[in-house]
Amino acid sequence: MDKTHLVDEITGHRRMRRNRKADWTRRMVQENRLTVDDLIWPIFIVPGTGIVDPIKAMPGVSRMSIDKAVEAVREAADLGIPAIATFPDIEMGLRDETGSQSVVADNLINKATAAIKKAVPNIGIITDVALDPFTSHGHDGILREGIIVNDETVDQVVRAAVMQADAGADIIAPSEMMDGRIGAIRRGLDAAGHQDVGIMSYATKFSSGFYGPYREAINTSGLLKGDKNSYYISPANATEAMRDAALDVEEGADMLMVKPGLAYLDICWRIKEAFGLPTFAYQVSGEYTQIKAAAMNGWIDGDRVMMETLLCFKRAGCDGILTYFAIDAARKLAKSG
Ligand code: PBG
Repeated sequence: MDKTHLVDEITGHRRMRRNRKADWTRRMVQENRLTVDDLIWPIFIVPGTGIVDPIKAMPGVSRMSIDKAVEAVREAADLGIPAIATFPDIEMGLRDETGSQSVVADNLINKATAAIKKAVPNIGIITDVALDPFTSHGHDGILREGIIVNDETVDQVVRAAVMQADAGADIIAPSEMMDGRIGAIRRGLDAAGHQDVGIMSYATKFSSGFYGPYREAINTSGLLKGDKNSYYISPANATEAMRDAALDVEEGADMLMVKPGLAYLDICWRIKEAFGLPTFAYQVSGEYTQIKAAAMNGWIDGDRVMMETLLCFKRAGCDGILTYFAIDAARKLAKSG
């Protein structure tokens, strides 16, 4: 029995499924696409040579000594990945109350930058200037009598940023959420002749449980006392996040980042709409690990969910994604392209 009139009466002859009926129509109407140009690869660096040390809480991700990192970054560049972001796992003996190792010119992060820049000059290097890898308490700033002191931290972060730029960093990405840091870093870089070094602000960094595996990766979880609520943004607050991002834009940020990613897509969208700056999401360690863990149990199709989440960042307005999946996703894109 012909029932078409029933539906046509309701929809007025409009049928969404016409555009979905075949692979070619679906391709024709596809609004967003993930390409290798959207991927930024975060990596973990350890002292020594010949080391590739798997991180338990992040299956498939390893800490690498600089020589091994250079090889891995070369592969990333060959795949077309535009940039990497480096995080150092600093020797415990070098960590102290103020994170003084962050302002040693040839520290682990700067040595890695110099080596990678020399060996793989065509990939962008993004370095974080937060103090947490360098402090004995795992906080992102200087701790004085139980308080993370803002202005003294900013002063040190600026000095660290200039050293990172001296070593060859292309973009400084401050993640420690101190007030005034973007403007201070901009002035510091310019005064040191680094006008072309950009700033990607971790504009809205939320106080999140999704950072757990990262803290294992750089060995800060055992050190951290208390929480980071006095400097990171509450997951409950979006208006406050917008105001924080607006200040970073005024202070001269070249790019903005939202972190974590998937649970904060509303913030990605609002930031892109409001400021129009290049906007990035950081699909953080806990997000990566959730997908990996479920996939390893056979409960989800890991590759499919990886590609879906990355595409969804694009739909939410992101210009790119920092993701531990970068290499896997790039390989997959190369195959399907
Ligand atoms: C701290 C920092 C964090 C991450 C990178 N730098 C968060 C934290 O430890 O509080 C998280 C990255 C991730 O989870 O993948 N400056």
